[in-house]
Amino acid sequence: MQKQLITASALGLLMAFGAGSALAAPDWSKVPGKKITVFYPGVSPMEWILKGTEHGGARGLKKGESCASCHDEEAADMGKKMVTGQKIEPNPIKGKAGSIPVNVQAAHDGANLYLRFSWKQPAGGAEKMDKDNQVKLAVMLEDNKVERANLSGCWETCHGDARTMPEAKDDKKTKYVKDGSLAGGKFYDLIQWTSKGAKHDGYVADKRVMDGGKALIEAKGEKKGDEWVVTFTRKLAGGEGDIALAPGKVYNFGFAIHDDHTHGRFHHVSLGYTLGLDAKADITAAKQ
Ligand code: HEC
Repeated sequence: MQKQLITASALGLLMAFGAGSALAAPDWSKVPGKKITVFYPGVSPMEWILKGTEHGGARGLKKGESCASCHDEEAADMGKKMVTGQKIEPNPIKGKAGSIPVNVQAAHDGANLYLRFSWKQPAGGAEKMDKDNQVKLAVMLEDNKVERANLSGCWETCHGDARTMPEAKDDKKTKYVKDGSLAGGKFYDLIQWTSKGAKHDGYVADKRVMDGGKALIEAKGEKKGDEWVVTFTRKLAGGEGDIALAPGKVYNFGFAIHDDHTHGRFHHVSLGYTLGLDAKADITAAKQ
């Protein structure tokens, strides 16, 4: 009798797992959220960040202080300075929001990582650079191999010679990591959702590649009233250009929103944060 019971419940478990494992989104109402304010960065590539004569934080950063440790609470004020052209923005866009507060949630189920982002649509006013997409949201993850990524998040991919930057000479040059190498593990994993319904699974190493990854299962988004809700389902395991995620580990994490039909550098970005799977971090994805 005992044995039969065990077998029956094991079978039930197997069936539940088999049927729901791929797309069993967590109950988001039970997942704690973290508010992260993404802000308009103006023209602040790593070259500017590291030049002590221009950026007040260059010395602190070189000594090991993170961008977020100095700037987390003032992200909205920073965005306002740059979006209005008061600082490091030669072409301010009238009406554009300086910052967007975003609620970020994460969970996993042993097979997949689930991410959820929600925010209120701010006012806009830009010319439509990307006609097809009102909004795009990209996430980058890094496995502690790119120098300083633990301090600066996605900023290591931001350079003055990348396309749409005022100093750019080549309009094909995308973001890249200095000495980046896919084979050497020095890359950022990149996933993106776009409001016209596309999803991308790529990476940034010596250059940016938007597709070809094997980890992203689903990227979905919709606007309910004035609130956007975007969710990603990503396998913990992955292929080339996908970081293999494991419980107990902590990764560097950043994200960007291209609001109001923008493209290139005209996005709102987060500072660098950490994402832990069942581990203490700025955002913890706990097992559901
Ligand atoms: C040790 C503290 C510190 C660190 C670390 C630091 N900064 Fe700064 N940052 C400053 C100070 C100070 C200013 C100048 C603020 C002012 O002029 O009012 C500044 C200015 C800026 C500005 C211009 C907007 C503004 O508010 O003046 C940007 C953008 C910026 N930092 C981004 C970053 C990024 C990105 C990183 C990490 C790669 C970083 N900072 C690391 C202290 C820091």
